[in-house]
Amino acid sequence: MQLRVVTDQPWDVRADVLAIPVLDEPVFEGPLGELDKRSGGELKALADFGELSTKRFSTALASAGELKAARLVVVGGGEAEKLDRETVVRIAASVERRLGGRKAASLAVWLTPLGVLEGGLERVAELVARGVVEGTFDPQQIYREKVETAPPAIEELILVAPDADKGALTKAAERGQILGEGANLARTLANRSANDVSPEVLADEAGTLARKHDLWIEVIGPDRATELGMGMFMAVGQGSDNPPRMILLRSGKEGQRDARDRHLAIVGKGVCFDSGGISIKPSERMEEMKMDKTGACTVIAAIATVARLAPGTPLLAVAPAVENMPGAHSTRPGDVVRALNKKWVDITNTDAEGRLILGDAMTYAERLGATHLVDVATLTGAVSRAFGHLVTGAFGTPQPWYDEVMQAADRAGERYWQVPLVDEYMPELESWYGDLVNSGTAEGSLVKSGLFLREFRTVPWVHLDIGGSAYFRKAAPYAARGATGVTHATLVELALAGAS
Ligand code: BES
Ligand code: MN
Ligand code: ZN
Repeated sequence: MQLRVVTDQPWDVRADVLAIPVLDEPVFEGPLGELDKRSGGELKALADFGELSTKRFSTALASAGELKAARLVVVGGGEAEKLDRETVVRIAASVERRLGGRKAASLAVWLTPLGVLEGGLERVAELVARGVVEGTFDPQQIYREKVETAPPAIEELILVAPDADKGALTKAAERGQILGEGANLARTLANRSANDVSPEVLADEAGTLARKHDLWIEVIGPDRATELGMGMFMAVGQGSDNPPRMILLRSGKEGQRDARDRHLAIVGKGVCFDSGGISIKPSERMEEMKMDKTGACTVIAAIATVARLAPGTPLLAVAPAVENMPGAHSTRPGDVVRALNKKWVDITNTDAEGRLILGDAMTYAERLGATHLVDVATLTGAVSRAFGHLVTGAFGTPQPWYDEVMQAADRAGERYWQVPLVDEYMPELESWYGDLVNSGTAEGSLVKSGLFLREFRTVPWVHLDIGGSAYFRKAAPYAARGATGVTHATLVELALAGAS
């Protein structure tokens, strides 16, 4: 997709489609009035007909009348006062998705109405480019040759911003495009099925990216993992014929401090399929558990994006990849294993496997010099019961590190809500046989999942539970059903804060 910023008025822009964002109640005055007039009254007619809604993400496809563009998409942005970064991304994605099944090679987006966003048009250019790219994601195309409703491949995206600084907007839009492509890479990996993406295949995919972006890579197989003492990681992976892989990717040098004097590690849960193991899951919706590797896919994509935007930025990505299967070699409920950090863990539920592989992965990240950790995981069903699919549950300690990660989240336009780490619940994780059980009672289980993970790191740490937000069960105006790419932009923003 080519990017072009033009300082023309929207009525002078030639494109297959011109997108017009409308906020609040549209008044046909100023440039919107001019646009209506020059179209020959198309916009007002649309409004009178009741087709033009300013509700967030509602779209109307219309003739452009006498304008130079061939077609119009009017897209609602809701209240101007509530316009935030996430909404701008989604407005742009809604436009692209509205064009699903249509033929359009060039798309122009009029940025001016979105200029009320904090950060102004430059920020808008970035978010709109990212949103259009994210809107092209369509998991049906992973396996099917022909998808009638697929969003069109836009060859040229024209950002229309009269009086803007072309150079600055172009740069911002290029950044947005790369962020969008990274999110889509994470989504595509996450959405691929478990018979396609085994731990080994995920490691191969990481290898391809490492070569492409000049990243250091190391992949630890079962023998070495056992030798190192990754007892929790192996306990989950041992039940499958597809052997586990601990995937390590790095930009910069081992332990190298970034501009903020940190060595950040991003750790992602890579359960290529989560059957639950011997504590097997009910069959209903078990097919969704191919998405249980989304955290791993996200950290792998995020380090590749960082390498594109700021090569050499110190960053470590750790992706423990396993398949959680029942079988003759599987871990049994009640098995007691030794974690890499030497703690004895009593596996009371083999379906609480994410915390096991993440625990060893975090310990190993610290061994490789990590001074700060963020992990991303489809860790619990409880988080989606609490927050639904639009909010990611976040935990962290100490609070200043949590707050910094949230500042990156604000820049990225992603939504989180903090879950407390309640010390008083720790006794409920005590094991009679070992140091800890991996699963306690259901009460407060979301909090306890964080408390368990906390035992496997010694440095500042944030945990992002994407169990609800990793994928949509049904399509939204701005996103297909399937993987959402959530947390990718946050991780990239966080790492880039340390770029010099
Ligand atoms: N991968 C699941 C969590 C999950 C379930 C994510 C549904 C997205 C949708 C995780 O491994 C799991 O099974 N968690 C259990 C934990 C319990 C056994 C303590 C859960 O949430 O029920
Ligand atoms: Mn599980
Ligand atoms: Zn799982």
